[in-house]
Amino acid sequence: MEIKVVTNKKELNDAFSIREKVFIEEQNVPKVIEMDEYEEVATHFVVYDGNKPISTARFRKYLNEKTVKFERFAVLKEYRGQGVGRALIKVMEEEARKNGFTTLRLNAQRHAEGFYAKFGYQTISEPFDEAGIEHVTMIKKIEAK
Ligand code: COA
Repeated sequence: MEIKVVTNKKELNDAFSIREKVFIEEQNVPKVIEMDEYEEVATHFVVYDGNKPISTARFRKYLNEKTVKFERFAVLKEYRGQGVGRALIKVMEEEARKNGFTTLRLNAQRHAEGFYAKFGYQTISEPFDEAGIEHVTMIKKIEAK
């Protein structure tokens, strides 16, 4: 397993291909909502099993200079429950720390709240609807580098 920060078009398309399978096909999120205006500015990550992209997520600066928002966190169905999500969130947290962020923030689908809680994220909102799916906002503070 190898985790890359996306630096070219091919890797970006690998990220999109996973989101297509997980969010658009599996979770029925409309494509116009799934792909948004932040694709260009976000930092994207892809996890590879050999040459095969198996997981992705992105992050972007949000609200202020110290806060980063994790979004579009997805592992292909057949690779779940094997520590792929854990490996990816650790790499993203380290990358966020290196970039000077001290607050990590995300909107978690309710079913994934326990996943993020495992890594120290705390729920700070009531449940709300996003793309037809119930979410909660979660945050985690990290030490500055
Ligand atoms: N609820 C609670 N705990 C969970 C969980 C969940 N939905 N999914 C995984 N965990 C736990 C695991 O049991 C494991 O704990 P352990 O080490 O004590 O055994 C730990 O979290 C790490 O699990 P891991 O195998 O790395 O997770 P994963 O690779 O299956 O990825 C998701 C988790 C949520 C990213 C994955 O299920 C997924 O892509 N789902 C579909 C897309 C989605 O809904 N994304 C979330 C958008 S907010």
